[in-house]
Amino acid sequence: MSLTELISPIADDMNAVDAVIRDRLNSDVVLIRTIGDYIVGAGGKRMRPALLLLMAKALGYQGTQHHLLAAVVEFIHTATLLHDDVVDESDMRRGRSTANAMFGNAASVLVGDYLYSRSFEMMVESDSMAAMTVLSAATTVIAEGEVLQLLNVHDPDVSLDRYLQVVRYKTAKLFEAAAEVGAIVAGATPAQQHAAAAYGRHIGTAFQLIDDVLDYSGDAQVLGKSVGDDLREGKPTMPLIRVMAVGDAAQQQLIRDAIRNGEADFLAVAHAIQQTDALAFTREAAIAEAALAREALQGLPVSVHQETLLKFCSFAVERDR
Ligand code: IPE
Ligand code: IPE
Ligand code: MG
Ligand code: MG
Repeated sequence: MSLTELISPIADDMNAVDAVIRDRLNSDVVLIRTIGDYIVGAGGKRMRPALLLLMAKALGYQGTQHHLLAAVVEFIHTATLLHDDVVDESDMRRGRSTANAMFGNAASVLVGDYLYSRSFEMMVESDSMAAMTVLSAATTVIAEGEVLQLLNVHDPDVSLDRYLQVVRYKTAKLFEAAAEVGAIVAGATPAQQHAAAAYGRHIGTAFQLIDDVLDYSGDAQVLGKSVGDDLREGKPTMPLIRVMAVGDAAQQQLIRDAIRNGEADFLAVAHAIQQTDALAFTREAAIAEAALAREALQGLPVSVHQETLLKFCSFAVERDR
């Protein structure tokens, strides 16, 4: 099932979130509008705001306050993308040249900062201290994750644990916050809020594990971003860590050198990955996380929204974009 079909039960809410996003991108500073429209206009899957809306509705919320908070989550996500593409020196995002490639690194970083600031303004407007607490803490953790990742780059001795910590911080945390805020908006019990957070954390982890698989096996046209960026950056992601654990001596050496130098021959590395179970192993890890996400939903009443949250678990693992 396509993502559009998946989120059809909340299509009206997603349109409302889109309207908030467009409205809040408005600035007197033309370059902010230009870059904001450029990256937002390219779309994106909008997984995180969808998750927030679905969780709120699955827990019985009927108001409209969640639109603002869903837009906050997408703004935070977009800010991290603007910064991430500068750090990763990426040239393609959402099927277009990255903002850094189009407008330069300085403009991308500054507009990313603008989106962060804007999102804090909007959080305050939501007038929910609980939501603010979760979202502001999440932005700190995301930044920590990106810095931790920077420390791991070009280090072939990064353990699976250290890698997973980066995944939890840089990616899973925002999914966790989105789901948790959905529960908060709905006035959930502490136990429900806890379950929502666990759901987000696990699905977010699965999502990033698959992102790291797709960086070796995806189709750039479909993904809308280049493949091979992780290797070029010397990022020790799970597929590479697995080859170093189970590959023969030559394969292990190839990967170690590739991570150290970051200028490896993509085809040679992809070949070593194919000859081991590295992608299947990473996929299995994602499947296990998705199963934990499903489990976290067990206490929720059955509804179309709860079912959609379950389907998201499959999407996170099966996606090719
Ligand atoms: C990209 O996230 C960054 C990661 C955490 C892997 P998405 O794949 O959700 O990006 P968009 O918003 O759909 O472009
Ligand atoms: C996710 O990591 C980055 C953020 C959480 C901002 P990646 O670097 O793998 O994301 P992509 O592949 O560039 O989208
Ligand atoms: Mg990146
Ligand atoms: Mg990636």
